[in-house]
Amino acid sequence: MTQTIHAAPHDAVAQVDKAEYDARYAASVADPESYWREGGRCIDWSRPYTEVKDTSFDEADFRIRWFADGQTNVSVNCLDRHLETRGDQTAIIWEGDEPGETRKVTYRELHSQVCCFANVLKSKGVKKGDRVTLYLPMVPEAAAAMLACTRIGAIHSIVFGGFSPDSLANRLVDCDSRLVITADEGCRGGKRIPLKANVDKALDHAPGVDTVIVIRRSGADVPMVEGRDFWLHDLLADASPDCPAEPMDAEDPLFILYTSGSTGKPKGVLHTTGGYLVWAHTTFRDVFDYRDGEVFWCTADIGWVTGHSYVVYGPLSNGATTVMFDGVPNYPDHGRFWETIDRLGVNIFYTAPTAIRALMREGDSWVTKSSRKSLRILGSVGEPINPEAWDWYHRVVGDRRCPIVDTWWQTETGGILISPLPYATDLKPGSATKPLPGVQPMIVDAEGKELEGATEGNLCITDSWPGQMRTVWGDHDRFFQTYFTTYPGKYFTGDGVRRDADGYYWITGRVDDVINVSGHRMGTAEVESALVAHPKVAEAAVVGMPHDIKGQGIYAYVTLNAGDEPTDDLRAELRQWVRKEIGPVATPDALQFAPGLPKTRSGKIMRRILRKIAENDTSNLGDTSTLADPSVVDTLVAERIRPA
Ligand code: WT7
Repeated sequence: MTQTIHAAPHDAVAQVDKAEYDARYAASVADPESYWREGGRCIDWSRPYTEVKDTSFDEADFRIRWFADGQTNVSVNCLDRHLETRGDQTAIIWEGDEPGETRKVTYRELHSQVCCFANVLKSKGVKKGDRVTLYLPMVPEAAAAMLACTRIGAIHSIVFGGFSPDSLANRLVDCDSRLVITADEGCRGGKRIPLKANVDKALDHAPGVDTVIVIRRSGADVPMVEGRDFWLHDLLADASPDCPAEPMDAEDPLFILYTSGSTGKPKGVLHTTGGYLVWAHTTFRDVFDYRDGEVFWCTADIGWVTGHSYVVYGPLSNGATTVMFDGVPNYPDHGRFWETIDRLGVNIFYTAPTAIRALMREGDSWVTKSSRKSLRILGSVGEPINPEAWDWYHRVVGDRRCPIVDTWWQTETGGILISPLPYATDLKPGSATKPLPGVQPMIVDAEGKELEGATEGNLCITDSWPGQMRTVWGDHDRFFQTYFTTYPGKYFTGDGVRRDADGYYWITGRVDDVINVSGHRMGTAEVESALVAHPKVAEAAVVGMPHDIKGQGIYAYVTLNAGDEPTDDLRAELRQWVRKEIGPVATPDALQFAPGLPKTRSGKIMRRILRKIAENDTSNLGDTSTLADPSVVDTLVAERIRPA
């Protein structure tokens, strides 16, 4: 039996209690149109909408449109509308890589920076609808760059600073960016990341880019190409702080964010203006029970969707104080998070299970030597949190005082879909609990038949919510094929899930060929294509395997070309190769040389078997009789790698 932790009202009175959640949920499902007609008013519209929900997941009339005749601007909602009431309040607390390397930016200052930055972009020829790529560390200028794009209607595409020049080039070309915003270097965990140098390399393969704006971060001396590269501080010196906001239609694109899928190259997930902002705004407000004046810290990088929705857009549209952290959890030591929480007076803290597990392993004393008395709510995101880690987070970090919100969502969903509401939802360690108002999950079997009651199967969402992605950039057909054809008429998440007798959801992980490494999504196909690009590799198959800290690790099977010898040096070289091709997050944890891969007679690789071997679950490999050469399996089992 799992223990249930009862929702206890906060002494300042729960903003949403159990009865209120139940009432809202029922209303949102019974009549989504009326629910969101009201719900959409949480943001300011320069032209109010009259249309609310216009959506269908059916092939014949497939469409996803919300608040379509309304107009708004994201930067106005995140900045201008707060100036009168909280202009001098801190909008962003920046915490650098070194403890205490801190900067505070008020709403008024941020507004002025964003307007200047927007004028800089305009002066470089950026217009509404143009794509601007950001390859940046976690500095306030990064948030300013995002908001500057939204002010003039440019579409930002943020590429995580840990991605390689090649990955950056692919993303630049895919969305046809003309302008890149980067920094001289990133500083993380005491190390330098050569961001500008990586951009220089990427631009060899992205001829469409004609302008690079460089933010000074480390102060390193980086080469600047005359006529192409400009220092931001030089450009800002001449920029006017007066920049009227572009009125945007609700369905005008807001940003593109690339994410990995089970096949092919990463997809450019497109979010639009009105629906996304309503979703980021309301989920931030309700899931974190945000109260005026509190300090909110989400540790995610803006290179991932969590950083978009819960470092920048959700907090700022609510007038919150948000922390931007440019460091790592274990630098300079394992107490960094907790020491910083005390120093900055953090009230709400949101991080990933992989970080929790890594810190848990270092012992309680790193935590207990801090006070953490400012903490009120803890959050978890990115992968399933195992009950042991949940319990440690609750007991040791939160002193049993702080509710944990385990938030399930995806890049595609724009914001949180399944999560407890603090003080309203009883908690069960390891469960994301219940859907938010407006979210209609359904569990189906392999054939798409709905499974009712307590059950386990594939997680679909049956109706649209405002924050849903609208398309894959440049490939609308891929959008429809990827998400709406496995189970026609439903959005398929790619996740497996269990529902218990209380109607609580327990996400079990991906059921497709996507691996979740430390909360970062990797497509097995991407790692495979990086491996086969090496001259000595004939064939590669990549699967996930359980990993104590990362949740999942990457296990690669590699067949070499005839004449090439499997050596430890080559193994190291191939791991390094993938790291260089894609980025450190894609480095295989284990790499096994395989004389051959298990294939059916029609040549299809039997991944099910490869997964079992990687998981070291070889007692029951299932039916191998359909293999072209069943003896391959015995060799693979005998030579299985025990990852370090
Ligand atoms: C995948 C989405 C959510 C933003 C960060 C990751 C997994 C995410 C949880 C959770 C169990 C989770 C799912 C999902 N996932 N949150 N609370 N419990 N699994 O976004 O890179 O788009 O990855 O992350 O498998 O499909 P993403």
